[in-house]
Amino acid sequence: MSKQKFLIVTCLVCLLALTGYGVQYAAESQKKKAPAAKPVAEQKKAAGIDATAKLSDTHPAIEEGITCNDCHEVKIDAKTTATQAWLYGDYMKWKAKEGIMPKDKVWEQIVKILGGKKQKRTFVLATSLNNKPLTTTIDCSLDPDKKVIYAFSERGTGKLDQMRVNPHVSLNWHKEFTDFQSTLCVQVSGKAELFDGTTKEFDEGLSVYYFEYGAEAQKIPAEKMMMMMKKGMIMTRITIDQITFTDNSLFGSEFRNRQRWTRN
Ligand code: HEC
Repeated sequence: MSKQKFLIVTCLVCLLALTGYGVQYAAESQKKKAPAAKPVAEQKKAAGIDATAKLSDTHPAIEEGITCNDCHEVKIDAKTTATQAWLYGDYMKWKAKEGIMPKDKVWEQIVKILGGKKQKRTFVLATSLNNKPLTTTIDCSLDPDKKVIYAFSERGTGKLDQMRVNPHVSLNWHKEFTDFQSTLCVQVSGKAELFDGTTKEFDEGLSVYYFEYGAEAQKIPAEKMMMMMKKGMIMTRITIDQITFTDNSLFGSEFRNRQRWTRN
């Protein structure tokens, strides 16, 4: 090997060693920066965060597969979002806090839109399991007094499995859009409980749910339909936490077209 070649090789080896050390050093200091996750009991309690919150460099380490809302309550409407402005803020001709319906009137309007006992609407139901949302179609009847929604499903469907593990649900009913004058949509959030045909809750549900529709369609007596449902179906009772609607037929009235009802 010539003297020149020897020099070049030596330099390369030194350079490689230095780079290696550099990488290792960077990894070490990275480790120091991000402290290992402490046992949950030792951790400071995580406060509520805004949906747009970002992680800081000093944030406690987060294991893979864990999401922000496993530790924090994520507040979607913590700031002046569009929805907040439409409902309560300065919006179109409305000054903040004007045009808001009294709570009982909001509920009355909801019943007018969704119907009450022995009427039904076909909703889209959103459930979520392991952070994977699923939407399904579901026929429901509203109990306007208890402010709960009843639905009946075949045993063993995916939505039942999801709600058994995570009872938090959201539902949507809307009229297909044709024009802005008649826009009508309803967004519900609540908590689901499941009951089988041996429970008194199942009977309560049957007294509200428009199951007679199914009996008529199949041309069988309502009694027989009821027995079939008790045997083969699971009832879902959704206790409503909040309903928000857009009803553009309210344009020109003393109220905003968007209103919200929240259970106390
Ligand atoms: C394993 C539980 C856990 C998870 C998961 C988690 N956090 Fe935190 N977070 C905490 C705790 C505990 C604190 C309080 C730390 C402190 O004050 O020392 C905190 C504090 C914060 C803070 C306040 C300032 C700061 O950064 O230290 C923000 C903002 C924050 N988290 C955002 C998020 C976001 C965004 C996510 C999801 C990407 C998330 N967190 C996921 C536990 C968690």
